[in-house]
Amino acid sequence: MKLSIIGTGYVGLVTGTCFAEVGHNVICVDNDAAKVKMLQAGGIPIYEPGLEELVKKHVASGRLKFTNSTAEGVQSSDVIFIAVPTPPQPDGSVDLSYIEKVARDIAAAMTSYKIVVDKSTVPVKTGEKVTETIKRYCAAKVEFDVVSNPEFLREGFAVGDLMKPDRVVIGTSSQRPVAAMREIYTPFNAPIIVTDINSAELIKHAANSFLALKISYINAIATVCEAAGANVQEVAMGIGLDERIGRRFLNAGIGFGGSCFPKDLSAFIKIAEQIGYDFKLLKEVQRINADQMERFVKKITDTLWVLKDKKIGVLGLAFKQNTDDVRSSPAIDLCQRLQKEGATLRVHDPKAMDKAKALLPNATYVDDMNAVAEGCDALVVATEWDEFKQLDLTRAKKGLTHPILFDGRNLFDPAEMEKLGWIYKSVGR
Ligand code: UDX
Repeated sequence: MKLSIIGTGYVGLVTGTCFAEVGHNVICVDNDAAKVKMLQAGGIPIYEPGLEELVKKHVASGRLKFTNSTAEGVQSSDVIFIAVPTPPQPDGSVDLSYIEKVARDIAAAMTSYKIVVDKSTVPVKTGEKVTETIKRYCAAKVEFDVVSNPEFLREGFAVGDLMKPDRVVIGTSSQRPVAAMREIYTPFNAPIIVTDINSAELIKHAANSFLALKISYINAIATVCEAAGANVQEVAMGIGLDERIGRRFLNAGIGFGGSCFPKDLSAFIKIAEQIGYDFKLLKEVQRINADQMERFVKKITDTLWVLKDKKIGVLGLAFKQNTDDVRSSPAIDLCQRLQKEGATLRVHDPKAMDKAKALLPNATYVDDMNAVAEGCDALVVATEWDEFKQLDLTRAKKGLTHPILFDGRNLFDPAEMEKLGWIYKSVGR
């Protein structure tokens, strides 16, 4: 099918590329000329495993094109996906101005029936507004349908998540676009759920809020475990093997971050409030997440006492492993808190150091994770990168003034670390 994607951020670029991979003809539109040029040459502006190869492959196959022109994208496609940012505003609500602008641009360019699909994460009832806007601004007065088709991609695993989705949600108020939407997604072999638009929009916020709730739940359990002398990982395993609960997203640590969970929680709480429901449960999820960071910093200050003039090595800057994304990263938050207390930092991340420099200019960036500990008073693990488990503990111990490790992601085994002579503090164990 002929598809266009407006917006080539994480979601738009991965979606467009994977659509090309399964045989569709895709035009990706972005108003950033430098980005479009880079993509046309087969380069990509983000780190996402497996993506660069696929972009190169389909720029070469001719199934993936990039342009600055929304009109070109709209006029040469049957289905137009909106994948522009929906950033948070200071009051927690979502800034929908990019969506509104794109809806107007699409409307202005439409000269025949189109299916306009919203893929960006938006509050419930946005589809209704997009429909009104297109109706109002479409000079050609052609027919169209608006569909909500939320994405569930995890950064760092986005290509895999898109190629093998758990489910595809298609929200529409009319039967007309359903066949085309099914055709687009048939090659992905996933269950397809057709709902009304409001339900589809709600599914996205409800899913992310539930995952965030799961993390805050296990972090609350971790606090109880610490007080009771239990081990949160054993508890997570014990409850997670119950299929109704599931073991995934039960990793305790310094809390969740990233461009989705914090923003989506605030947005969901806000929209619920606007339509008359005080979502206290989700407010508590936010509170537990904030507390988790406070408690971890306290763990560090309880052990090191005064942080002024202490040197601390930090492993991890990205908001999670397998990404270079530092937006709302708990690791960056932690670093900033340590600096505020007067500590100087030596930091390392396998992929996120370039992006971190803007948020954390006054730190020493170390290329080799095994060299981070040198001359430090303690080491901190802030991101759950798998490769940190291979840290040369003997070298790190020699490099530190005292063998102290604060593990904010529970990567090491407490008994093992104790045997090796470390003062080891993790979360909920
Ligand atoms: C999330 C959703 O998983 C995805 O479906 C949605 O489309 C976008 O939002 P993402 O933001 O890429 O994806 O990251 P995710 O893997 O969900 O992790 C979010 C945060 O939770 C990270 O900071 C991570 O470190 C933290 N986390 C995750 C935990 O602290 N414990 C866990 O058990 C899992």
